[in-house]
Amino acid sequence: MDDKKKTGRYQRINSQLSELLKKTDDPLARMASICAVLHHKMDHYFWTGFYLFKNDKLIVGPYQGPVACQELEKGKGVCWAAVSKGAPVVVKDVHAYPGHITCDSRSRSEITLPVFNLDGEIKAVFDVDSDQVNSFNEIDRIELEKILELIYATLIRS
Ligand code: SME
Repeated sequence: MDDKKKTGRYQRINSQLSELLKKTDDPLARMASICAVLHHKMDHYFWTGFYLFKNDKLIVGPYQGPVACQELEKGKGVCWAAVSKGAPVVVKDVHAYPGHITCDSRSRSEITLPVFNLDGEIKAVFDVDSDQVNSFNEIDRIELEKILELIYATLIRS
């Protein structure tokens, strides 16, 4: 998908989710809706989901796609890298990433983004895998950061 098409797709999804997520402010329900909508609307998404940051662990939360690891070994892989950096990580080829945790051998590239609550505490990591190399770039990072802000946003019912 070219960058222009990708940006437009993300922005339409953002508008749709902004409406959908007004129904509840429960973060877990919002995460579930975000991953279902993105997974079914973005062609390059093979696995889409959240790992919840609880008691210094990353435990699987809402997701779509093949069965995933329940808990990610601490300090290893791309999700933990997003936690330790406190910033998104884009991996163009997971085979070239030392310590990548393979839940499904078909995954070839990925993006992980930390999710913060309104107090700036990290609550989860959003993880998307593609079965193609080099699927994610700055457009995914920028647009996904905006979508993830909806999880803890005060959305006014209209
Ligand atoms: N890729 C992740 C593990 C989770 S799966 O991709 C669903 C990582 O290395 O952190």
